[in-house]
Amino acid sequence: MSRLLLVSNRLPVTVKADKDGVSVVPSAGGLATGLRGPHEKSGGLWVGWPGDVSRLTPAQKASVEEQLAQQRCVPLYLSASEVSRFYEGYSNQVLWPLCHYLLERVPRQDRDWEVYRKVNERFADLVARHYQPGDTIWVHDYQLMLVPALLRERLPQARIGFFHHIPFPSSEIFRALPRRLELLRGLLGADLIGFHTLSYVRHFASTLMQLLGLEKVGDHVDQDGRQVRIGAFPMGIDAKAFEELVRQPAVLEEVRVHRENAAEQRLVLGVDRLDYTKGIPRRLLAVQRLLEREPAWRGKLRFVQVAVPSRTAVEDYATYRERVNELVGRINSLYGSVHNVPIHYLYRSLNQKQLAALYRAADVMLVTPVRDGMNLVAKEFCASRPDEDGVLVLSELAGAADELDEALLVNPFDVEGMADALEAALEMPAEERKRRMRALRTRVIDCDVHCWVNSFLSALQATPTAPPRVKPQ
Ligand code: ADP
Ligand code: G6P
Repeated sequence: MSRLLLVSNRLPVTVKADKDGVSVVPSAGGLATGLRGPHEKSGGLWVGWPGDVSRLTPAQKASVEEQLAQQRCVPLYLSASEVSRFYEGYSNQVLWPLCHYLLERVPRQDRDWEVYRKVNERFADLVARHYQPGDTIWVHDYQLMLVPALLRERLPQARIGFFHHIPFPSSEIFRALPRRLELLRGLLGADLIGFHTLSYVRHFASTLMQLLGLEKVGDHVDQDGRQVRIGAFPMGIDAKAFEELVRQPAVLEEVRVHRENAAEQRLVLGVDRLDYTKGIPRRLLAVQRLLEREPAWRGKLRFVQVAVPSRTAVEDYATYRERVNELVGRINSLYGSVHNVPIHYLYRSLNQKQLAALYRAADVMLVTPVRDGMNLVAKEFCASRPDEDGVLVLSELAGAADELDEALLVNPFDVEGMADALEAALEMPAEERKRRMRALRTRVIDCDVHCWVNSFLSALQATPTAPPRVKPQ
C-alpha cells in the first residue's frame, strides 16, 4: 500500500515537561498546524524532532515514545550540540534571516554548516530505514534542504517531493550564502519542488540559472537524467475546522466575553510566533501613531497582541522580545488610564478554541510581517468569520497577499501608512466589510489545506520516476 512519509524538522507535537509531568502538546507554526490534519487522514508516518527530551527519565521517555507512536510520529532526537548548531545555528541564524532578506542578522562566521549537513544525513538515514517501495516521501522546509539529494542517493527510485515554507529570496540575496551550491544541489534531489508563490518560483529559477549555469529554467530542470519539476502551490488552512469551532457554544460564549470586556471599544488583534519577521514593533508603532494623531481614538481601542514564545535560545529572538516588551510598556504608559490600557500583550500559546474566539471577536486583524512565506494566521482569521464581518489588514510582503487582495494591503515598513489603514479599517462601513470578507472567505475556503495537499501530491505523482540505474559491468 502506498503511504505518505512526511519529513520535517519539527513534529506536529512537541514534548512538554513541567511540574505536572510529561506530555506531548501541539506544535505552533504554519507547517505543523497545516499538515496535522492531512497526516491524520493519510495513515502514513511523520518523521521529525519532538523537542528537547534530555531531562526526561527513561520511564518518561518511554511514555513519550508511546504517545508519538500512537500518532504515527517517528522521532529523530537531536543532541544538545545539534540543537544549538543545526537548529538554532545554521537553520535559524543563517537560512531563516537570509531567506527573509535580513542579511545583517546572519553571523559573520559560517561555523555550523557541518552539523547542518550531518543532521540532514541523519534524517535521510532514518527515512530510508522506514521507507517501503511505493511510498511517497514529502520533505519540508529550510532545515532539511539537503535531504532530497541525500535520499536520492539512498533510494534512487523513490518519489520525493520538497516544499519550501518560507520565502525563496532574490538570487542576489541567495548568492550571498557560502554554501549556496550544496543547498541548491540538495533540493534538486527531489522530483518536485514547491513554493507558496510564483515570485518565489521565479527567484528559485533565476538562482539556478545564475549559480548553476542552467539555461532558461521554466517549470522543470533536467538533473542527472531526471526531470525536477518546480511550481507554486499556495498553502491553505483547515477552514472547515475553524468554521466549526466558531459555531460551538463554548467558543461563542468566549466571544461574548471578549466583546463585553471591550464594551464601547473596538477590538484589534495580532497573533504571531514572537519572531522578528512578524513586524510587531512597527505594528505597535502604527497603533501608537493613530492614538497620537487622533485623540478621539484614545480609550476607544483595545489592541490584543498574542505572541507565542519561539526559538527563545537564539539571541536575536531574546533581544526582539525585550524590544516588544519595552514598546508595549511605553505605549501603555503614554496612552493608558487608571481604568484602561490600549495594548493587551500576551506572551504565550493559546489553544485553537481560544484563538478562534479571538479571531471571531475582533473588529480588525493586523497581520503585518516584514516578510513571510505565506502567513496562515491571516487565513485562519477569515475562516473564523462566518458572520462575514471583521477587517483584515495584511502586509503586502506576506505570501498570503497574492491571494487575499480584498484585505487592506499595507507596506509593513510604512508606519504612517499602517496607521492610515488601521483607521480606515476601524471606520469601514458595514457593507464594505461584508463585501471584502465574503470574497476573502470564498478564497480561503476554496483553496484550503486539503486542496493544497492534493494539488502538490497529484503533481508529484505525475512526475516521471527516475529511470532505473544500470549497474556498471
Ligand atoms: P509561522 O509559520 O511563521 O509561525 P503562520 O502564520 O503561517 O506563521 O503560522 C502560525 C501558526 O501558529 C498558525 O496556525 C497559528 O494559529 C499558530 N499560532 C500563532 N500564534 C499562536 C499563539 N499565540 N498560540 C497558539 N498558536 C499560535
Ligand atoms: C515556520 C517554519 C517551520 C517551523 C515553524 C515554527 O513555520 O516554516 O518550519 O516549524 O516556523 O518554528 P520552530 O523553530 O519552532 O519549529
